[in-house]
Amino acid sequence: MTRETWATRAGFILAAVGSAVGLGNIWRFPWVTAENGGSAFLAVYLGVVLLVGVPGLLGEFVIGRRSGRNPVGALRDLGGSRSWGYVGLFSAVTALVLLSFYSVVGGWILRYAVETGLGLLTGGPAPYFAEPGAYFGGVESGLDAVAYHVLFLALTAGIVVGGVRKGIERATTVMMPAIAVFLVGLALWASTRAGAGEGYAFLLAFDLDTLRANFFDVLGPAAGQALFTLSLGAGTMVTYASYLGEDRSLPFDATTIAVLNTAVGVLAGLVVFPLMFAQGIDPSATGPGPGALFVGLAEAFATLPAGTLIATVFFLVVTLAALSSSISMLEIPVSILVDEAGVSRPVAVGGSVVVLVVTGSVLALRPPLFGVVAGPVVDFLLTAGLTVFLLFVGWVLGREATAEFRNGAGDLAASLADPWRLAVGVALPLFLLFTLLTSLGFSAW
Ligand code: PHE
Ligand code: NA
Repeated sequence: MTRETWATRAGFILAAVGSAVGLGNIWRFPWVTAENGGSAFLAVYLGVVLLVGVPGLLGEFVIGRRSGRNPVGALRDLGGSRSWGYVGLFSAVTALVLLSFYSVVGGWILRYAVETGLGLLTGGPAPYFAEPGAYFGGVESGLDAVAYHVLFLALTAGIVVGGVRKGIERATTVMMPAIAVFLVGLALWASTRAGAGEGYAFLLAFDLDTLRANFFDVLGPAAGQALFTLSLGAGTMVTYASYLGEDRSLPFDATTIAVLNTAVGVLAGLVVFPLMFAQGIDPSATGPGPGALFVGLAEAFATLPAGTLIATVFFLVVTLAALSSSISMLEIPVSILVDEAGVSRPVAVGGSVVVLVVTGSVLALRPPLFGVVAGPVVDFLLTAGLTVFLLFVGWVLGREATAEFRNGAGDLAASLADPWRLAVGVALPLFLLFTLLTSLGFSAW
């Protein structure tokens, strides 16, 4: 059976940007930033996106395009041994852990979109998230959360079952421009809110002293968030690049994707932070928790005549962003099952979803566990995963990697191939290992 490829040049970029842009930019970013001291965190985070994110994307792209395989098949074929295939299996584990909590949050957002649109939720977020910090009202909302979680998974599955071209590519080609247009509109609207200025000030307040004092404490979470936002370390980018033809410049694509993801992140910040401040919610106050965004935003929307409409649009945009990411997570186990186990795509999708319904429901009903999985556990898995991919590129692929890097690249980009291999083989793995140690509590050094 021949493997699918992307239909158009833009198709791959939009799918990869769709994977990158997601809850990481809109929901996770504000609370992780808040929990780690605001501006000091931001500076480190942006640094990691640039210095680790772009070369890291390139590492995953090289593995994917060179092999034309899912993460398991890619490491096995390129590494030349079955054991490398087993190493690649960590991608499936990471993807399932990620999607377990991601689809629960996707469910929350879907619920906001649906119930706000139906006029059921008029600014009373309390039953959904209770107080900021305590983001579940009780068992009842827990069960609702499970129902919407399953619905969100069903939407994700409905796209992935259509395949690479007719499912993922078609969906993201529509979704991404829509997200961009709506976010610009929302940012313009947010700028008219009283208190918006404080929100901008929060985003721009880079303070060197705070940064110096907190550098090692924020390094781990900042690196984790940078990898999360760029969908790195799980094998999504390996998988998506495996559907690429030879005519692409990988360095160009990686840069484009990182720039667009950051732009959407900034745009989302220009929506979220002004609104939070307009509601008197200080994101740098301790422990606003994963629910704060929704409490603050729902209240902000409720103060307006057209609030219901704007709220519905906002939560629909976030739902689309979440879906374009969740499909990229689901595609990992699906591609492994289809390529390696030879099952049909619908069976692979169905089997993965059954597992996710169970694992996600456990998280939906266990908020403390949810918090640990959505934060430190995911940071750890992505950081460890990217370290393995980069060491593989630098030491196992070696010259093959630089050849693949140059393939389709212009002269300028091609001249960066050797420094890049040194970076992914040595400097970045050292950096990532260091951040792993600091986040495991070795901050004393
Ligand atoms: N980048 C996505 C986001 O920001 C999350 C994601 C992580 C997607 C890892 C795929 C793989 O929401
Ligand atoms: Na992102």
